[in-house]
Amino acid sequence: MRPADKARLVRAALQARKKAVAPYSRFRVGAAILARGGKIITGCNVESASFGLTCCAERVALFKALSEGQTSFAAMAVAARHPGGPMPCGACRQLLAEYAPGTTVIVVDSRQPTRRREFAVADLLPGAFVGFAPE
Ligand code: THU
Repeated sequence: MRPADKARLVRAALQARKKAVAPYSRFRVGAAILARGGKIITGCNVESASFGLTCCAERVALFKALSEGQTSFAAMAVAARHPGGPMPCGACRQLLAEYAPGTTVIVVDSRQPTRRREFAVADLLPGAFVGFAPE
């Protein structure tokens, strides 16, 4: 992936972060996923008064993309005001391993968006459980 495309994806994640619905944690996260056809789909974290129902920016972006019929992805960018950028939680790693296995995850601190750190989904969740055969 060209650096210019990575920068564009990061910019989309930074824009999405502005829409974060995070009245409880006040930790605003934006994500942007790049479908293989070139389309970028964004998401932000959405929190609930029933805290456990909160959904991370990564999953919002992924679910939006899947629900729009996108099935193949090249990369995801995640941005938050966090040293080194926010690492996806375990739940998001699971969903990425299932639906975006070949994807590169780019994380950035919103204060230093040109400092990108990149991880392969396969490295974020080695040995992922991605399906089962019925008995
Ligand atoms: N959060 C994300 O959206 N993505 C991450 O990678 C880490 C955590 C959200 C969930 C919750 O709204 C807030 O950050 C604090 O955990």
